[in-house]
Amino acid sequence: MEKYNLSNEKGIRKQFFKKKLETIELYKQKTINDRKDIYGIWDSNLESFSSAFHCVLPERYEKDQFTGLKNYIENDLKETKGSNIGVEVGGIGNNLFRGFSKDFFKKTYGITLIEHRTEEEKRKDENLNSSLGMNHKVLEGNLLSKNIYNTLEKELNNKKVNFIIERMIGGHDTIPNDFDIISKPLKLWYRILEENGIILMEIPPISYGLIQNWVEMIEEIYKSKLEVKFYNNVIRLKKLKDAPKELPVLKSKHIKEIK
Ligand SMILES: C[S@@+](CC[C@H](N)C(=O)[O-])C[C@H]1O[C@@H](n2cnc3c(N)ncnc32)[C@H](O)[C@@H]1O
Repeated sequence: MEKYNLSNEKGIRKQFFKKKLETIELYKQKTINDRKDIYGIWDSNLESFSSAFHCVLPERYEKDQFTGLKNYIENDLKETKGSNIGVEVGGIGNNLFRGFSKDFFKKTYGITLIEHRTEEEKRKDENLNSSLGMNHKVLEGNLLSKNIYNTLEKELNNKKVNFIIERMIGGHDTIPNDFDIISKPLKLWYRILEENGIILMEIPPISYGLIQNWVEMIEEIYKSKLEVKFYNNVIRLKKLKDAPKELPVLKSKHIKEIK
């Protein structure tokens, strides 16, 4: 069995996390003009997201590199068309949600560590979104902090989310390579996810073997309640009927037992 080096000792983990928080602060302090330069790619369109995630879509859609994602989401969530809520975590989400059919989502959000746009660009985006009939809001916050989810939950006003997507590419610089830390936001996303809802997540370069173990555990124990597909560095998770209330994850003590 593969051995996993998890750096589980508290001191090491604390130190590492502190360094990442410093990176986050540094990114936030950059001037507005620098903000675009930090990330070569930002506010990508739906086709770009599709080419990252088509490999984890159900068989029917996986070969369709550029339109597979749109077709899958719109077919799979068609029962809730018009009332769907979508969230992009780790991006402003404007171009992504503009790619879906008009009226498919009732409300969409982008959660980003930093606001990439000038006031003028924000105004232009808002005008374009409203001319397209979109109801989209950008929230600024750190995806590892509970505060941003409190803000989102207030916005949601007891409603749940149908679709959550995260594809940060270089944005993963701010995330510690630690399965326990990464599984925390994933657990929070799962908690606000509606039944039948879908999470698509790009995983930072942590031990992919560990993710494989988690996927195997889900497939073995929760086969009819959770649908999961993992390929390369992306996963798809779908919450089916009677899915567990909390997302089952591997506990550190189980991870140690895998060694
Ligand atoms: C390379 S851009 C990708 C943006 C978008 N997802 C796309 O595919 O075009 C990285 C994004 O990750 C976001 N990001 C990085 N660290 C983050 C964090 N800790 N919490 C929230 N967003 C974060 C940045 O604000 C930035 O929008």
